Amino acid sequence: MSDFRYFDKLTDLDSESQYLAKRASEWLDNAYAPYSKFHVSAAVLLEDGTVVLGTNQENAAYPAGLCAERLAVFSANAQHPGKKIKKVVIVARRKEETVLTPAASCGGCRQVMLESEKRQGLPFEVVMLTHSNQWVIARSAASLLPFAFTKTNL
Ligand code: THU
Repeated sequence: MSDFRYFDKLTDLDSESQYLAKRASEWLDNAYAPYSKFHVSAAVLLEDGTVVLGTNQENAAYPAGLCAERLAVFSANAQHPGKKIKKVVIVARRKEETVLTPAASCGGCRQVMLESEKRQGLPFEVVMLTHSNQWVIARSAASLLPFAFTKTNL
């Protein structure tokens, strides 16, 4: 089985992914991105159906800001300790635009998702819009970060 499944339209995805993409999209206005004007939102689905949302939060001291995925995954783990993550859906939209733009998770967020996945001992799907404007469902966080650095390397 391939690690990645591609879809031309959001409506081609499973209903759970569509629902999470909708929830994340509705949250995009809550991004605080006055510097990049690039709004990102992540919806984290937990095993009991809870949805934890996060948006990117920037800061005048640029490196102090945080990506949406990291914010959502960390807050899921902080607020719902022990509950496994089932799926993460990421969407992005430029300020003043109405359509979604590709949202490929950055390396730091892939690293954080990977460790969360390893910690729970169960893969979770990661869904996003690729730069070729296709939706992709990655079967695991690990599939998004080959040759990763993990605690076993320490
Ligand atoms: N950003 C995310 O929230 N997630 C990513 O995976 C990539 C980038 C945010 C960080 C920053 O606030 C803005 O997008 C532009 O880089």
